[in-house]
Amino acid sequence: MTAVRGPALTFTGDPFRDGLDATMVHEPDAIVAMADGHIAHFGPASLIAPLLPAGTEVLDYGRDALISAGFVDTHVHYPQTPMIASHGAQLLDWLNKYTFPTELKFADKAYARDTAKLFLRENLRNGITTSCVYCTVHPQSVGALFEEAEEIGLRLAAGKVLMDRNAPSALLDTAQSGYDESLALIRKWHGRGRLLYAITPRFAGTSTPAQLAAAGALWRENRDCLMQTHIAESRDEVAWIKELFPDRRNYLDVYDHHGLCGERAVFGHGIWLDEPEMHRLHTSGAAIAHCPTSNFFLGSGAFDLARAVRKERPVRVGLGTDIGAGTSFSIMRTLDAAYKASQLNGNSLSAGHAYYLATRGSARAMYLDDKIGSLAAGMEADLVVLDMRSTPLIDFRMNEARTFAEQLFIQMTLGDDRAVQATYVAGRLANARKLDTNRSP
Ligand code: GUN
Ligand code: ZN
Repeated sequence: MTAVRGPALTFTGDPFRDGLDATMVHEPDAIVAMADGHIAHFGPASLIAPLLPAGTEVLDYGRDALISAGFVDTHVHYPQTPMIASHGAQLLDWLNKYTFPTELKFADKAYARDTAKLFLRENLRNGITTSCVYCTVHPQSVGALFEEAEEIGLRLAAGKVLMDRNAPSALLDTAQSGYDESLALIRKWHGRGRLLYAITPRFAGTSTPAQLAAAGALWRENRDCLMQTHIAESRDEVAWIKELFPDRRNYLDVYDHHGLCGERAVFGHGIWLDEPEMHRLHTSGAAIAHCPTSNFFLGSGAFDLARAVRKERPVRVGLGTDIGAGTSFSIMRTLDAAYKASQLNGNSLSAGHAYYLATRGSARAMYLDDKIGSLAAGMEADLVVLDMRSTPLIDFRMNEARTFAEQLFIQMTLGDDRAVQATYVAGRLANARKLDTNRSP
């Protein structure tokens, strides 16, 4: 058994539903004890220390740390890592100008492996221990990512993108070949160790009705897989999908009609969904991945989080970096953008709600909250240890903070990768920040 000690933050429920007082646990001096990849004990150090077997090593991170469940990224494209920060286009042009040319390179497995390595290292540097990942149309792009993730021991979901129209021909599969290749990948990878398969029709713009129907059939036959796609990200996209599918009631109905809406579905963006669509997401148990840095970068819009989780029909919402339209692997930077998206909708996202979104909320969006996303005995031991004084400015500003809520808000507004001092995967240290040069003297 190994253990870490320091202040800790976790959630026992959904603060959007039940409030922070009933769901947020801030323990100023906690111990998280880990064995066999799981959390064996979590609680106040005074209660946990006597339970540890003699000789258990307890690594004390000190009172300026914060131990949390690892961050969860519900929407990200690893093959877009090489094109992050590409200038000057909105969604549909951006796909044609930057995304598709980059994704063509993933026919080469060596290129895919190099990118997957860098991508997963960036995730760990930022405290992200689980993500829901789009690969490219090439099955080998999926293999490259799963092989690297398996080596680290990550819990990770990913899938081969399905596209059979409106993209360069070298990036297209067919309804049948996409089905067959996805099924082969499911058989090889789904449920192997901690890995999960996500059936991944890119979006309605790049799939024919026949391909959406094949994806729906595949999901029906493999119902414990996740399903991920994009929806209602930009207004131009919504108008285009209406032209492509004139018979469907709305954008969500395009997916729903083909059997692609239900539990374990993760819909990226959803900025421009109307009320009937939100209601259907609620009744079906499907989730939205909120990707604020991407939405601002592409000029797509400001997602109304408060509306999505409205109490009479709450929709599951997770947080996504959406690399490479998203501009940062840092969950702090992503939460900062989420705050600003909320502000533009007249609401001020609280820091407590934001950290819930990045951990347990995102785990819940992926139907994994019984395994990851919180600190509790029996959960998988994926942790991030934050440094609450990671830069001279944060250090200085923290001296003025009177409450824990203020301290948390300072982190998400000013923090970045420098705030992550350690990341644990299945109880093992998977990333530790280099020598501490961030502090003021
Ligand atoms: N819609 C369809 N494909 C994509 C993609 O790769 N990125 C984003 N942001 N939106 C999409
Ligand atoms: Zn995306």
